[in-house]
Amino acid sequence: MTATDVSSQPAPSARHRFAGHVVWITGAASGMGRRHAERFAAEGAYVGVIDIDADAAQMVADGIRATGARVRAVAADVSDADTLDRAAAQLHAEFGPATVVVANAGVVPGVLATVEDTDPTDWRRVLRVNLTGAFLTARTALPQLREAGGGSLVLVSSAAGLFGFAGYASYVAAKHGVIGLMRSLANEVAGDNIRVNALCPGTTDTPILDREAQALGVSRDALMSAQAHAHLIPRLIEPDEMSDALLWLCSPEAEMVTGVALPVDAGALVKRSLN
Ligand SMILES: NC(=O)c1ccc[n+]([C@@H]2O[C@H](COP(=O)([O-])OP(=O)(O)OC[C@H]3O[C@@H](n4cnc5c(N)ncnc54)[C@H](O)[C@@H]3O)[C@@H](O)[C@H]2O)c1
Repeated sequence: MTATDVSSQPAPSARHRFAGHVVWITGAASGMGRRHAERFAAEGAYVGVIDIDADAAQMVADGIRATGARVRAVAADVSDADTLDRAAAQLHAEFGPATVVVANAGVVPGVLATVEDTDPTDWRRVLRVNLTGAFLTARTALPQLREAGGGSLVLVSSAAGLFGFAGYASYVAAKHGVIGLMRSLANEVAGDNIRVNALCPGTTDTPILDREAQALGVSRDALMSAQAHAHLIPRLIEPDEMSDALLWLCSPEAEMVTGVALPVDAGALVKRSLN
């Protein structure tokens, strides 16, 4: 199965852990965010598909609506507070306050470069979307989560938020920053019954790998093979496997889990720690 035919798969869970919940996912027009949106909808949630790519977001929403679920696509740039606030207001008007928010939108550097050779414009772009985007998403979402009486906020980091890679400093710094943001936020809003966690994926089979291969100047197949070998379980992770972890993290089953950076990385961290 490839990343592109993921959405043709039926949702594997017949559970309804999110019936009546209002779930927003940023970066939901592609890859993991898309699958997360489909999976939350399959478990009864009203879903806000938020993405900078309005047409792709609408296509994802149309596919989800065809299953009978309630969904709305909203175009927003997570690095722009005004567009996010407008998206939040539209989703509130349609569904009521958010109860689950997933700051998933992310980008990779344009090229592999040492810190000395990194173009400051590309550095700022990577930080703006991955880190400032998570901050702005949280900032926009928190009043609604509070209005709802509490909820769950997940910031998507990466295994690269937990260790360093030569040549990828902007992404690594941004994803480490996401974990710092999560840890501060978890302390700030626990009293409001809001749990805040970070999800740290290992290499997952999504369209972002095309851009990563381009940045590294290698083929997608070569990248996939190298990344699979960076895992203890020597294959790439499927978006559905990330959704399994995310939906658990947002569910009542994880009621006592907050302030955690959860690796779903096929053992990449532990493998590196042995090297
Ligand atoms: N795929 C992996 O191996 C991997 C590993 C670790 C972490 N991650 C992280 O997981 C998240 C999802 O990645 P993916 O692999 O599904 O990527 P993807 O490229 O398939 O999807 C990313 C989505 O984010 C959207 N987006 C980009 N910039 C945006 C912006 N400014 N505002 C709103 N939306 C924007 C894109 O349009 C796209 O729909 C990202 O944060 C990524 O950094 C991915």
